[in-house]
Amino acid sequence: MNEIWTHIPIMAPQIADLILLNPRGVYIDATLGLGGHTKFFLSRLGADARILGFDKDEEALQMAVERVNDPRLIAFHASYTQAPLELKKLGLEGADGVLFDLGLSSYQLDNPARGFSMLRDGPLDMRFDRQNPLSAAVIVNTWPMAELERILKEYGEERSFTKIALAIMQARRQAPIETTGQLAKIVEKIYGGKRGKTHPATQTFQALRIACNQELENVEKALSLLEDIVKPGGRAAVLTFHSLEDRLVKNYFKKLVKDGNWLLIHKHALSAPFEEVRQNRRARSAKLRVIERIKI
Ligand SMILES: C[S@@+](CC[C@H](N)C(=O)[O-])C[C@H]1O[C@@H](n2cnc3c(N)ncnc32)[C@H](O)[C@@H]1O
Repeated sequence: MNEIWTHIPIMAPQIADLILLNPRGVYIDATLGLGGHTKFFLSRLGADARILGFDKDEEALQMAVERVNDPRLIAFHASYTQAPLELKKLGLEGADGVLFDLGLSSYQLDNPARGFSMLRDGPLDMRFDRQNPLSAAVIVNTWPMAELERILKEYGEERSFTKIALAIMQARRQAPIETTGQLAKIVEKIYGGKRGKTHPATQTFQALRIACNQELENVEKALSLLEDIVKPGGRAAVLTFHSLEDRLVKNYFKKLVKDGNWLLIHKHALSAPFEEVRQNRRARSAKLRVIERIKI
């Protein structure tokens, strides 16, 4: 299994240059995934540095621990919202740097069994954390039409939200929609098989994933933790992959700067370099924002 799943960490050298200011520091990888960023960061850090890594996905976390295979990583199967508590338990007042790499790892996206992929058929799941009772199938088969319309519109930014919600309601009256393939076909029909650069069901899948994992609420929670987890002089980097999350980050950073204790490192979000996008398509929509807590 370990040989099959890969996830290339996005903008790793840029993030390392921006947040690893203290080679002996304590860092938080809030979204450890398969450990790609952490492995890269550890290659740049000293022997007594530490990284606290969090992931809600137990399978991913286990793979990360095996792959990173380094005692400087302390891994937690927990949401990053637990970071302040874990810092406290370790007697640490804060981290020198934090990375939030939001979104999906390629392991989750490519593994049909996890139910995120519209191209490879699998159960309609989409949960980062398998202990979460709310799967995409529950949403699609039980939520009322108005709620389906709302998430398609708000989280998917899908223009045909009513048509898609209606098609889902009609299909589920015949039989439950159980697989990613079934759902992808329902949406494809609405678009009459027309395809732009992306699959017609991309926005629908995005909406379900966000709803299922309460992603926007979690990003807000994560941002509200920054003051508790970043030391004065430390930095936080946030990588996002869609405009809804980037907007939340941009506005929250603005507010922090206005309150006076934080400094933006760049006025605008950074994108992945051309060469990286050429080699890894998933880097194309990445936006990186970095902020520093001012030393008092
Ligand atoms: C894009 S991947 C991270 C990839 C990682 N940086 C790497 O290089 O391998 C995002 C990860 O965040 C995890 N995740 C999502 N929400 C989370 C949360 N609230 N707390 C902890 N991890 C979360 C997902 O399970 C996923 O593994």
